[in-house]
Amino acid sequence: MANETTRLTVPKFVALKGGGRKISMLTAYDYPMAAVLDAAGIDALLVGDSMSMVVQGHETTLPVTLDEIIYHAEMVGRAAQRAMVIVDLPFPTMHLGVHRTIECGARILKETRCQAVKLEGGAEQAEVIRGLVGAGIPVMAHVGLRPQNVHQLGGYKAERDAKRLHTDASAAQEAGAFAVVLECIPAAVADEITAAVKIPTIGIGAGPHCDGQVLVTHDLLGLTTGHVPKFVRQYADLRDVIWDAANRYRSDVETGAFPASEHQIK
Ligand code: KIV
Repeated sequence: MANETTRLTVPKFVALKGGGRKISMLTAYDYPMAAVLDAAGIDALLVGDSMSMVVQGHETTLPVTLDEIIYHAEMVGRAAQRAMVIVDLPFPTMHLGVHRTIECGARILKETRCQAVKLEGGAEQAEVIRGLVGAGIPVMAHVGLRPQNVHQLGGYKAERDAKRLHTDASAAQEAGAFAVVLECIPAAVADEITAAVKIPTIGIGAGPHCDGQVLVTHDLLGLTTGHVPKFVRQYADLRDVIWDAANRYRSDVETGAFPASEHQIK
């Protein structure tokens, strides 16, 4: 198990802003994937509620529960040797009041070896962010497109009002958030917000000017079965690689080509 001091800490993560290189962040949901991403030098791993869609096969991020997130976060927390690990607060945790949200955030920190939580929201979540931070639970805020609002908005629609986005990011910072995810907002607005706030901005579909970038790992690796957003760059086609391996294995089993003599216990 990693020594806690070898992992990227929240203050060191914050200090990466303006440090001359961008911050890399990816989602992770289990031990082997988290271990590979960690070894590849990714700065931060997010146990995102996107697991509801890309791992559990749901249509939205809403069904995943706190217990399920904790179960996956334990695996990721165990694998991370040097990356900081952040865990999403699932819907509707942060709408249940400050006290309840602190209980949920505390469970995540106590049970998973993860270091911070992420919550969707900016200005309207300021009180909750303040409460969590006051309890020693570091918070990454998430503004712009907020997938947990899918039904309220009738689809995946991002906040486009630049003033509102500025207000949300600044309010999150004022309340004590150590970073903010900017999802699906115009690059120029992300640039302005990044210049205006002291905390790192982590973009997803928010252009090149953010302090860092995050993607859903399944999208990046070509493992997503449903819709892949336009802002994703796919770096591998693992679905094809896995299909090919499974197909060759099936064929070898059917023909008796596997197991061969070297696979037999003598
Ligand atoms: O749940 C998630 O994966 C996320 C990222 C898309 C930022 O919130």
